[in-house]
Amino acid sequence: MKKVNIAIMGFGIVGGGTYDILTGNYKMIADSTGFGINVKRVLDLDTQKIIDKGIAKEVATKNFEDIVNDPDISVVVETMGGVEPARGFILRCLEAGKSVVTANKELLAKHWAELKSAETDSARIFFEASCAGGIPIIRTLEQGMQANNITQIMGIINGTTNFILDKMSEEGLSYSDALKIAQDLGYAEANPAADVEGYDAMYKLSILSSLAFGKHIPYTGICREGIDKISARDIAEGKAMGYTLKLLGIAQNSDGKIEARVNPAFVPDKHPLAGVRGAFNAVYLKGDYVGDIMLYGSGAGAHPTGSAIVSDVIVAIGMRGKKAKKKVSKGEPKFNYNYSSKYYFSITAEDKAGSLAKVTALLGKCGVSLASLVQKEVTNGQAYISFLTHCTYEQSMQKAIGEITKLDCVSSVESLIRVI
Ligand code: HSE
Repeated sequence: MKKVNIAIMGFGIVGGGTYDILTGNYKMIADSTGFGINVKRVLDLDTQKIIDKGIAKEVATKNFEDIVNDPDISVVVETMGGVEPARGFILRCLEAGKSVVTANKELLAKHWAELKSAETDSARIFFEASCAGGIPIIRTLEQGMQANNITQIMGIINGTTNFILDKMSEEGLSYSDALKIAQDLGYAEANPAADVEGYDAMYKLSILSSLAFGKHIPYTGICREGIDKISARDIAEGKAMGYTLKLLGIAQNSDGKIEARVNPAFVPDKHPLAGVRGAFNAVYLKGDYVGDIMLYGSGAGAHPTGSAIVSDVIVAIGMRGKKAKKKVSKGEPKFNYNYSSKYYFSITAEDKAGSLAKVTALLGKCGVSLASLVQKEVTNGQAYISFLTHCTYEQSMQKAIGEITKLDCVSSVESLIRVI
């Protein structure tokens, strides 16, 4: 049987998980593909970690040149993460005629054009593992939905934030207590900004929407809000109205105008995304002929992410020498920042005659129509009032909130959350 040599750069959780699958399912993969995948080199600054895994000493290296200059290595897996040196290594591998498989969403989102233009027919870049871990969302977008114009992607594409929001919702925990649990369990990093401030989901949405809409959607055009300002109270108020709070990545293509945003959103309890619990991911797609579909699974972790990587390695080997189709066109997309949504917002205001009238008058002036409102309690003369609007435009809502904030009778606007 033909043997194909590959290398793994970065032997952390995902690199190790990839190795487990390549060795654990070696025979099954070889039987089904007709080639045996041999890990010829593993690169990590800590070579002892590689050796401790039972891998032969001569496989382990700290030197990238051992990989890029080896003509026997045809596919390189990059699981180092971060932008540099991953970017430089990947470019050199492509230049040397080696295909690259990467899980690096930050790198892809930040250097999309450079990486895509470095591809050749014999050296391409594959990135199934960059979005939603083990869920085959890239393959679905590239191949499974080819008969359709994809008009919408809406997904839970960050497991850490879903875990935190789920804990807050189920156990009534504060954001900081839920974050601490996520950190203790290894979901969230010591510096959790990439997850909780929505950067990770923004990079993934840039990749997914570029594939879905056949046009590069730069991450810089994506509106981003994280979950770090969400309170247990917001979640409880939403729950009482039949909503579950999720951090969503949403991209819509309406006649060539692109709406792309990452933000917390109340999802009706009966929507399939509301039932996605813990650290799981799910992506909901709309195609013009297929209708709605949803893919669900583990969005992170050694073996789910390794599964996506190994599947890319197999495809990369199978596609060597075949002409690549260029599907994503260049040129700036037209973004629509004045999209329409329902909104939930809450305020604390003086509990006296005319307070609410001033707030509702401003909403009316800005063209925001109210669907319902609840005043639940008064503490020290301050009432906590929550509102649900009908569909309105983002700019109208922002204008209304700006003006409500300035009212003397309003102590603070506590939250503004979009509603699906
Ligand atoms: N930190 C990510 C998440 C996984 O929580 O989903 C890698 O992108």
